[in-house]
Amino acid sequence: MRGLDPPPEQVVITSRDYDEYLAALGLDEPALLRARVLDCPGGASDFARTVRERGGRAVSADPLYAGTPDEVAAAVGAALERGLGRAVAALRRGGAGWSAGLPEYVERRRRSALRFLADYARDRAAGGSDYVAAALPALPFPDGAFDLAVVPNLLFAYADLFDLDWHAAAVRELVRVAAEVRVHPLTGVDGLPYPRLGELRRALAATGVGTTVRAGTLVCRVRRSAPGPSTTAAPPRSGATGGGAGR
Ligand SMILES: C[S@@+](CC[C@H](N)C(=O)[O-])C[C@H]1O[C@@H](n2cnc3c(N)ncnc32)[C@H](O)[C@@H]1O
Repeated sequence: MRGLDPPPEQVVITSRDYDEYLAALGLDEPALLRARVLDCPGGASDFARTVRERGGRAVSADPLYAGTPDEVAAAVGAALERGLGRAVAALRRGGAGWSAGLPEYVERRRRSALRFLADYARDRAAGGSDYVAAALPALPFPDGAFDLAVVPNLLFAYADLFDLDWHAAAVRELVRVAAEVRVHPLTGVDGLPYPRLGELRRALAATGVGTTVRAGTLVCRVRRSAPGPSTTAAPPRSGATGGGAGR
């Protein structure tokens, strides 16, 4: 993963937990557990581990996973410290809403990261492939390998690092490997809406990728009838995760 532009280190590593993923991405658990799921970027989240623990199938992808368990633990530990620092600074700036929730927020992220780190070490020791070192916009998976790709907190969050072409290439790559792609949030780290969303959606539509916005999440699929970037991408499977399955 060396030599990537921009370097992945410029992107914060976070550890949102399984319940946060479900709520943010509007996922219905029974449908989720039937699907083949890609979490990209997985970061230090326990989402995929929890999917597997509950009987589902999930793989995480992130450039972070090029590291050994010790290297990843050090990077995640440092990121958690910085994240706590930012939360405390927000509290000091007068974010009264934080005061009640801050200890719980910190504890949830810490628990999620610890579960991830234990699972990452287990996977590496077993020579497994639950955590794949990969960086958008190029993923090492065959066309249609997944029913659902969840993309939390990377696209749109770093508009200063990743330009419009990068975003379009990333979504095209994600719909190549997954029948349905859900990207959340549609805002930057400053909380402001991604300013080029309309332009991006038009560019994707022009290459056969249909998008809809549902409750702050961008849902993307290759259109069946239109010529897409990859003609071999699996068609969306009704009922796997989309349509009426979201909550
Ligand atoms: C804010 S974290 C999100 C982690 C997790 N999804 C969550 O919501 O807590 C962003 C992650 O993106 C990863 N990343 C950076 N560049 C990337 C790229 N080009 N492709 C995929 N992931 C990347 C970072 O290593 C980091 O773990």
